[in-house]
Amino acid sequence: MRTEHTQQTRGVEQARTRDGFASAIGAFAATLGSAVGLGNIWKFPYLTGSNGGGAFVLVYLGSVFVVGLPILVAEHLIGRKTRLNAIHAYGSIVPKAKYWSLIGWAGFLSAIFIMAFYTDVSGWVFAYIFKAIAAAFTGGVLNAGTFGSLAGGTWEPLLWQFLVLCLTTSIIASGVSRGIERVTKTLMPILLVLLILCDIRALTLPGAFAGVTYLFRPDFSKLTGSAILTALGLSFFKLSLGMGTMTTYGSYMPDSTRIVPNATRVALADTVVSLLAGLAIFPAVFAFGESPAGGPGLLFNIMPLIFSKMPFGSVFTIIFFILSAIATMGAMLSLVEVPVSWMVEKGKMKRPTAAYLTGAMMFALGILATLSQGPTLGNVKILGKNFFDLFDFLSSNVLLPIGGLAIAILTGWLLKKQDIVRELEKGYGEGKKPGYIQLVYVFIKYISPVVIFVIILNGFGIV
Ligand code: TRP
Repeated sequence: MRTEHTQQTRGVEQARTRDGFASAIGAFAATLGSAVGLGNIWKFPYLTGSNGGGAFVLVYLGSVFVVGLPILVAEHLIGRKTRLNAIHAYGSIVPKAKYWSLIGWAGFLSAIFIMAFYTDVSGWVFAYIFKAIAAAFTGGVLNAGTFGSLAGGTWEPLLWQFLVLCLTTSIIASGVSRGIERVTKTLMPILLVLLILCDIRALTLPGAFAGVTYLFRPDFSKLTGSAILTALGLSFFKLSLGMGTMTTYGSYMPDSTRIVPNATRVALADTVVSLLAGLAIFPAVFAFGESPAGGPGLLFNIMPLIFSKMPFGSVFTIIFFILSAIATMGAMLSLVEVPVSWMVEKGKMKRPTAAYLTGAMMFALGILATLSQGPTLGNVKILGKNFFDLFDFLSSNVLLPIGGLAIAILTGWLLKKQDIVRELEKGYGEGKKPGYIQLVYVFIKYISPVVIFVIILNGFGIV
């Protein structure tokens, strides 16, 4: 209930404008807005391509629904039960066990690691809008050379990254995220339509079927322990799990939101977007005789190729990258919000100060990620990875899964079962109790932590 809020919480909520969530549908849109982003159109296709296709997709789908979905439910319920920012939520959900706030601190760190490379890639997307416009006027083409010189450059990608961060932090600073929410909500369906259009074009190219086979026919001989860990990490990254984003969003959910159905719809819708992106990219990859293991450049190299085979292709290319840019903004806002909400609440910082400070930290690491894609820092390797890959690896394959494991243990083993049940029954009329709660509880308490634990050990070659 709103009236139960502490003075402090209320202050924070007033400082934010994104938290509207006045309705269950608003809560759904906002959650989906955080989930959908580069993960769907960039990361999912490129990781699928680098990890051999179908078998990776199957493991990914399994981890979304067996592990990701229960954790999404757990995060939402912790958020809504405490109605606090992530660090405080984890630190206060169990009496006298403040150290669980460590999950929130790890989340703070994850947000910065993720944004370091996310803003680099988002910068490429923004740059591609302008490159596509220029190409439309000059009759030029966007090809592998275009991507190589952008990503491998020095000042150009840094400038775009800087602009992306300025845009994101200034939106967070001024607290006008409601505007962006509204924009995202209207434009997301258009992105979906455009993706379907690309699917139709890609699937009707000669030789396209090899791409469908690649995406859906599992070849388990290609699956390694580290690929399974990567698929798990991707499912966390996709659903914005393991670091407090979805806890924060849970804290804004009205009691009318039915947490389990809402989370299920988000996971389904998000997965559909990823599969649609895969169904555009892989058929085209095979039809054009490209390699599926094209790495991070896959999206940027293949999409313009598909559009070039369509009438008005140059216009569609521009629209596609504009919509993608908007999708990345929604996700980035939810990432920046995690540290900012804590700084505002606990550090008594002004919202703009918190936003710009967070942005500065992200840019500092972001420079390392961006320059590691080119000659400047390309040769610097830590654990055999350049900075870009290192930040990605540390967040997706280490911090998010461990965060998810901790959240599952905290929820399943330390919270009272009746509290969980009560939270999950909210939104149903009196006397109408949903039948699935036992099942969800078993997944949160036993199945997801065990699966995560085994995958982590296996991924690091321990078992
Ligand atoms: N889910 C977003 C995507 O797929 C990225 C994202 C937003 C995220 N917030 C997050 C990832 C929190 C991990 C944690 O692009």
